[in-house]
Amino acid sequence: MSDAPSTGYALVTGASSGIGAAIAREYARRGVPLVLTARRIDKLEQLAAELRSQVAVEVIVADLADPLAPEALAREIERRGLAVRILVNNAGYGVPGRYLTQDWPVHARFLQVMVGAVSELTWRLLPAIRACGDGRILNVASFAALAPSADGQTLYAAAKAYMVRLSESLSLENADRGVKVTALCPGFTWSEFHDVTGTREMMSKLPRWAWLQADEVARAGIEGLERGRVIVVPGRLYQLLHAVSRHLPDSLLLRLMGRNSGRIRRVD
Ligand SMILES: NC(=O)c1ccc[n+]([C@@H]2O[C@H](COP(=O)([O-])OP(=O)(O)OC[C@H]3O[C@@H](n4cnc5c(N)ncnc54)[C@H](OP(=O)(O)O)[C@@H]3O)[C@@H](O)[C@H]2O)c1
Repeated sequence: MSDAPSTGYALVTGASSGIGAAIAREYARRGVPLVLTARRIDKLEQLAAELRSQVAVEVIVADLADPLAPEALAREIERRGLAVRILVNNAGYGVPGRYLTQDWPVHARFLQVMVGAVSELTWRLLPAIRACGDGRILNVASFAALAPSADGQTLYAAAKAYMVRLSESLSLENADRGVKVTALCPGFTWSEFHDVTGTREMMSKLPRWAWLQADEVARAGIEGLERGRVIVVPGRLYQLLHAVSRHLPDSLLLRLMGRNSGRIRRVD
Protein backbone atom coordinates (compact mmCIF):
# COMPACT_ATOMS: atom_id res chain seq x y z
CA MET A 1 0.00 0.00 0.00
CA SER A 2 2.93 2.35 0.72
CA ASP A 3 3.47 5.04 -1.94
CA ALA A 4 6.32 6.81 -0.15
CA PRO A 5 9.96 6.26 0.65
CA SER A 6 10.27 5.47 4.37
CA THR A 7 12.02 8.77 5.08
CA GLY A 8 9.41 10.99 3.44
CA TYR A 9 7.12 12.58 6.01
CA ALA A 10 3.84 14.34 5.24
CA LEU A 11 3.47 17.57 7.23
CA VAL A 12 -0.24 18.27 7.75
CA THR A 13 -1.26 21.67 9.11
CA GLY A 14 -4.62 21.89 10.85
CA ALA A 15 -4.42 18.18 11.65
CA SER A 16 -6.36 18.44 14.92
CA SER A 17 -9.80 18.09 13.29
CA GLY A 18 -11.92 17.84 10.14
CA ILE A 19 -10.29 17.59 6.73
CA GLY A 20 -6.72 17.78 8.11
CA ALA A 21 -7.29 14.83 10.46
CA ALA A 22 -8.90 12.90 7.58
CA ILE A 23 -5.90 13.61 5.32
CA ALA A 24 -3.57 12.41 8.09
CA ARG A 25 -5.61 9.19 8.45
CA GLU A 26 -5.54 8.62 4.68
CA TYR A 27 -1.75 9.09 4.51
CA ALA A 28 -1.29 6.76 7.50
CA ARG A 29 -3.38 4.17 5.66
CA ARG A 30 -0.96 4.54 2.74
CA GLY A 31 2.06 4.05 5.01
CA VAL A 32 3.28 7.66 4.93
CA PRO A 33 4.87 8.88 8.21
CA LEU A 34 3.37 12.08 9.58
CA VAL A 35 4.16 15.39 11.20
CA LEU A 36 0.93 16.76 12.67
CA THR A 37 0.56 20.41 13.59
CA ALA A 38 -2.17 22.73 14.94
CA ARG A 39 -2.75 24.63 18.22
CA ARG A 40 -4.66 21.99 20.26
CA ILE A 41 -2.08 19.53 21.56
CA ASP A 42 -4.68 17.22 23.17
CA LYS A 43 -6.40 16.63 19.81
CA LEU A 44 -3.07 16.15 18.02
CA GLU A 45 -1.82 13.66 20.61
CA GLN A 46 -5.11 11.76 20.42
CA LEU A 47 -4.79 11.42 16.64
CA ALA A 48 -1.09 10.55 16.90
CA ALA A 49 -1.89 7.76 19.40
CA GLU A 50 -4.51 6.40 16.99
CA LEU A 51 -2.13 6.41 13.99
CA ARG A 52 1.15 5.25 15.59
CA SER A 53 0.25 1.60 15.10
CA GLN A 54 0.40 2.32 11.33
CA VAL A 55 3.23 4.86 10.87
CA ALA A 56 5.71 7.09 12.73
CA VAL A 57 3.94 10.26 13.91
CA GLU A 58 5.50 13.49 15.22
CA VAL A 59 3.49 16.28 16.84
CA ILE A 60 4.52 19.94 16.76
CA VAL A 61 2.24 22.61 18.23
CA ALA A 62 2.12 25.89 16.28
CA ASP A 63 -0.20 28.88 16.06
CA LEU A 64 0.04 29.89 12.40
CA ALA A 65 -1.43 33.32 13.16
CA ASP A 66 1.97 34.11 14.67
CA PRO A 67 4.16 35.48 11.85
CA LEU A 68 7.18 33.72 13.42
CA ALA A 69 5.48 30.29 13.42
CA PRO A 70 6.39 29.03 9.91
CA GLU A 71 10.11 29.59 10.49
CA ALA A 72 9.94 28.04 13.99
CA LEU A 73 8.04 25.03 12.59
CA ALA A 74 10.56 24.51 9.78
CA ARG A 75 13.45 24.76 12.28
CA GLU A 76 11.83 22.23 14.64
CA ILE A 77 11.35 19.82 11.72
CA GLU A 78 15.05 20.24 10.86
CA ARG A 79 16.11 19.84 14.52
CA ARG A 80 14.22 16.52 14.73
CA GLY A 81 15.90 15.37 11.49
CA LEU A 82 12.61 14.82 9.64
CA ALA A 83 12.65 14.82 5.84
CA VAL A 84 9.37 16.30 4.59
CA ARG A 85 8.32 14.92 1.21
CA ILE A 86 4.67 16.05 1.32
CA LEU A 87 3.33 19.41 2.55
CA VAL A 88 -0.40 19.69 3.23
CA ASN A 89 -1.42 23.32 3.76
CA ASN A 90 -4.81 22.73 5.34
CA ALA A 91 -5.19 24.89 8.48
CA GLY A 92 -7.93 27.47 8.03
CA TYR A 93 -11.15 29.09 9.17
CA GLY A 94 -13.58 31.84 8.21
CA VAL A 95 -14.17 35.25 9.79
CA PRO A 96 -17.93 35.82 10.05
CA GLY A 97 -19.77 38.94 8.89
CA ARG A 98 -19.03 41.84 6.56
CA TYR A 99 -15.59 43.45 6.26
CA LEU A 100 -16.07 46.39 8.64
CA THR A 101 -17.76 44.42 11.41
CA GLN A 102 -14.39 43.04 12.57
CA ASP A 103 -11.36 44.91 13.89
CA TRP A 104 -8.32 44.93 11.63
CA PRO A 105 -6.25 42.59 13.87
CA VAL A 106 -8.89 39.88 13.30
CA HIS A 107 -8.40 40.20 9.52
CA ALA A 108 -4.61 40.46 9.88
CA ARG A 109 -4.47 37.17 11.82
CA PHE A 110 -6.73 35.54 9.24
CA LEU A 111 -4.47 36.65 6.36
CA GLN A 112 -1.42 35.40 8.25
CA VAL A 113 -2.93 31.91 8.66
CA MET A 114 -4.49 31.65 5.19
CA VAL A 115 -1.92 33.45 3.02
CA GLY A 116 1.26 34.30 4.95
CA ALA A 117 1.82 30.93 6.65
CA VAL A 118 0.88 28.95 3.52
CA SER A 119 3.33 30.95 1.38
CA GLU A 120 6.21 30.93 3.89
CA LEU A 121 5.89 27.29 4.91
CA THR A 122 5.88 26.31 1.24
CA TRP A 123 8.94 28.47 0.56
CA ARG A 124 10.84 27.02 3.53
CA LEU A 125 10.06 23.37 2.78
CA LEU A 126 10.18 23.48 -1.03
CA PRO A 127 13.95 22.83 -1.33
CA ALA A 128 13.58 19.53 0.59
CA ILE A 129 10.40 18.64 -1.31
CA ARG A 130 12.20 19.24 -4.64
CA ALA A 131 15.27 17.32 -3.54
CA CYS A 132 13.45 14.05 -2.84
CA GLY A 133 12.39 13.51 -6.47
CA ASP A 134 8.71 12.73 -5.82
CA GLY A 135 7.59 15.59 -3.58
CA ARG A 136 3.98 16.67 -3.17
CA ILE A 137 2.12 19.81 -2.09
CA LEU A 138 -1.59 19.59 -1.28
CA ASN A 139 -3.20 22.98 -0.71
CA VAL A 140 -6.66 22.75 0.82
CA ALA A 141 -8.41 25.66 -0.87
CA SER A 142 -12.20 25.71 -1.34
CA PHE A 143 -15.00 25.60 -3.88
CA ALA A 144 -15.40 29.25 -2.84
CA ALA A 145 -12.19 29.98 -4.79
CA LEU A 146 -13.84 28.84 -8.04
CA ALA A 147 -17.14 30.74 -7.74
CA PRO A 148 -17.83 34.49 -7.50
CA SER A 149 -17.30 35.77 -3.98
CA ALA A 150 -20.12 36.08 -1.44
CA ASP A 151 -21.49 38.90 0.68
CA GLY A 152 -19.91 38.21 4.11
CA GLN A 153 -16.73 36.32 5.15
CA THR A 154 -15.14 38.90 2.85
CA LEU A 155 -11.52 37.71 2.72
CA TYR A 156 -12.27 33.98 2.61
CA ALA A 157 -12.77 33.40 -1.14
CA ALA A 158 -9.97 35.84 -1.95
CA ALA A 159 -7.54 33.92 0.26
CA LYS A 160 -8.63 30.59 -1.23
CA ALA A 161 -8.33 31.95 -4.81
CA TYR A 162 -4.77 32.95 -3.87
CA MET A 163 -4.10 29.33 -2.90
CA VAL A 164 -5.40 28.08 -6.25
CA ARG A 165 -3.19 30.49 -8.23
CA LEU A 166 -0.19 29.70 -6.01
CA SER A 167 -0.75 25.98 -6.65
CA GLU A 168 -0.84 26.55 -10.42
CA SER A 169 2.48 28.42 -10.45
CA LEU A 170 4.15 25.93 -8.12
CA SER A 171 3.00 23.00 -10.25
CA LEU A 172 4.60 24.56 -13.35
CA GLU A 173 7.78 25.63 -11.58
CA ASN A 174 8.48 22.29 -9.90
CA ALA A 175 7.32 19.64 -12.37
CA ASP A 176 10.94 19.28 -13.58
CA ARG A 177 11.83 17.80 -10.15
CA GLY A 178 8.89 15.39 -10.02
CA VAL A 179 6.89 17.60 -7.63
CA LYS A 180 3.09 17.46 -7.97
CA VAL A 181 0.92 20.26 -6.62
CA THR A 182 -2.85 20.26 -6.12
CA ALA A 183 -5.39 22.83 -4.95
CA LEU A 184 -8.18 20.83 -3.32
CA CYS A 185 -11.48 22.72 -3.65
CA PRO A 186 -14.20 21.13 -1.51
CA GLY A 187 -17.72 22.46 -1.04
CA PHE A 188 -19.52 22.28 2.32
CA THR A 189 -17.85 19.58 4.42
CA TRP A 190 -18.75 18.20 7.86
CA SER A 191 -16.07 19.39 10.29
CA GLU A 192 -15.66 21.96 13.07
CA PHE A 193 -15.37 24.71 10.44
CA HIS A 194 -18.93 26.04 10.74
CA ASP A 195 -18.81 25.95 14.56
CA VAL A 196 -15.59 27.99 14.57
CA THR A 197 -17.06 30.42 12.01
CA GLY A 198 -20.31 30.73 13.95
CA THR A 199 -22.54 29.61 11.07
CA ARG A 200 -23.55 26.11 12.27
CA GLU A 201 -27.23 26.96 12.89
CA MET A 202 -27.66 28.61 9.49
CA MET A 203 -25.75 25.85 7.69
CA SER A 204 -27.79 23.10 9.32
CA LYS A 205 -30.74 24.27 7.17
CA LEU A 206 -28.92 23.13 4.02
CA PRO A 207 -30.00 19.72 2.68
CA ARG A 208 -27.87 16.67 3.57
CA TRP A 209 -26.99 16.07 -0.09
CA ALA A 210 -25.14 19.40 -0.18
CA TRP A 211 -22.60 18.08 2.35
CA LEU A 212 -19.35 16.21 1.83
CA GLN A 213 -17.65 13.96 4.38
CA ALA A 214 -14.10 14.86 5.41
CA ASP A 215 -12.76 11.40 4.54
CA GLU A 216 -14.12 11.53 0.96
CA VAL A 217 -12.58 15.00 0.54
CA ALA A 218 -9.23 13.71 1.84
CA ARG A 219 -9.27 10.69 -0.47
CA ALA A 220 -10.24 12.75 -3.52
CA GLY A 221 -7.45 15.24 -2.76
CA ILE A 222 -4.70 12.64 -2.39
CA GLU A 223 -5.88 10.61 -5.41
CA GLY A 224 -6.10 13.77 -7.55
CA LEU A 225 -2.64 14.83 -6.38
CA GLU A 226 -1.15 11.46 -7.34
CA ARG A 227 -2.83 11.73 -10.77
CA GLY A 228 -1.24 15.16 -11.29
CA ARG A 229 -4.52 17.14 -11.20
CA VAL A 230 -3.78 20.77 -10.29
CA ILE A 231 -7.38 21.53 -9.26
CA VAL A 232 -9.51 18.87 -7.58
CA VAL A 233 -13.21 19.36 -6.86
CA PRO A 234 -14.55 16.46 -4.74
CA GLY A 235 -18.11 15.15 -5.13
CA ARG A 236 -20.45 14.88 -8.14
CA LEU A 237 -22.65 17.82 -7.06
CA TYR A 238 -19.77 20.27 -6.86
CA GLN A 239 -18.17 18.93 -10.05
CA LEU A 240 -21.46 19.59 -11.85
CA LEU A 241 -21.81 23.07 -10.34
CA HIS A 242 -18.24 23.84 -11.35
CA ALA A 243 -18.78 22.64 -14.93
CA VAL A 244 -22.04 24.60 -15.30
CA SER A 245 -20.76 27.79 -13.69
CA ARG A 246 -17.82 27.95 -16.09
CA HIS A 247 -20.28 28.52 -18.95
CA LEU A 248 -22.21 31.32 -17.23
CA PRO A 249 -21.18 34.99 -17.20
CA ASP A 250 -19.50 36.18 -13.98
CA SER A 251 -21.97 39.08 -13.72
CA LEU A 252 -24.92 36.63 -13.53
CA LEU A 253 -23.12 34.39 -11.00
CA LEU A 254 -22.28 37.41 -8.86
CA ARG A 255 -25.96 38.50 -8.84
CA LEU A 256 -27.02 34.97 -7.87
CA MET A 257 -24.39 34.90 -5.12
CA GLY A 258 -25.57 38.30 -3.88
CA ARG A 259 -29.15 37.04 -3.60
CA ASN A 260 -28.22 33.81 -1.82
CA SER A 261 -25.29 34.83 0.41
CA GLY A 262 -27.56 35.13 3.44
CA ARG A 263 -28.20 31.37 3.32
CA ILE A 264 -24.52 30.45 3.69
CA ARG A 265 -22.85 33.50 5.25
CA ARG A 266 -23.49 35.82 8.17
CA VAL A 267 -24.09 39.22 6.57
CA ASP A 268 -24.45 41.24 9.78
N1 LIG B 1 -15.65 22.55 6.12
C1 LIG B 1 -15.90 23.11 4.95
O1 LIG B 1 -17.08 23.26 4.57
C2 LIG B 1 -14.75 23.55 4.08
C3 LIG B 1 -15.02 23.74 2.71
C4 LIG B 1 -13.96 24.14 1.88
C5 LIG B 1 -12.70 24.32 2.40
N2 LIG B 1 -12.47 24.13 3.72
C6 LIG B 1 -11.09 24.35 4.21
O2 LIG B 1 -10.61 23.14 4.77
C7 LIG B 1 -9.57 23.43 5.70
C8 LIG B 1 -9.80 22.59 6.95
O3 LIG B 1 -11.00 23.04 7.55
P1 LIG B 1 -12.04 22.03 8.23
O4 LIG B 1 -13.29 22.09 7.47
O5 LIG B 1 -11.41 20.73 8.45
O6 LIG B 1 -12.30 22.82 9.60
P2 LIG B 1 -11.90 22.49 11.10
O7 LIG B 1 -12.44 21.17 11.50
O8 LIG B 1 -12.32 23.69 11.89
O9 LIG B 1 -10.30 22.40 11.06
C9 LIG B 1 -9.50 23.55 10.94
C10 LIG B 1 -8.09 23.20 11.35
O10 LIG B 1 -7.27 24.38 11.22
C11 LIG B 1 -6.53 24.55 12.41
N3 LIG B 1 -6.26 25.96 12.66
C12 LIG B 1 -7.15 26.98 12.70
N4 LIG B 1 -6.53 28.12 13.05
C13 LIG B 1 -5.22 27.81 13.24
C14 LIG B 1 -4.08 28.55 13.65
N5 LIG B 1 -4.15 29.86 13.97
N6 LIG B 1 -2.88 27.91 13.76
C15 LIG B 1 -2.80 26.58 13.48
N7 LIG B 1 -3.83 25.83 13.09
C16 LIG B 1 -5.04 26.44 12.99
C17 LIG B 1 -7.41 23.95 13.51
O11 LIG B 1 -6.61 23.49 14.60
P3 LIG B 1 -6.51 24.15 16.06
O12 LIG B 1 -7.82 24.81 16.37
O13 LIG B 1 -6.18 23.00 16.95
O14 LIG B 1 -5.36 25.11 15.92
C18 LIG B 1 -8.01 22.75 12.80
O15 LIG B 1 -7.13 21.63 12.88
C19 LIG B 1 -9.62 24.94 5.94
O16 LIG B 1 -8.55 25.56 5.24
C20 LIG B 1 -10.96 25.36 5.36
O17 LIG B 1 -10.95 26.68 4.91
C21 LIG B 1 -13.46 23.74 4.57
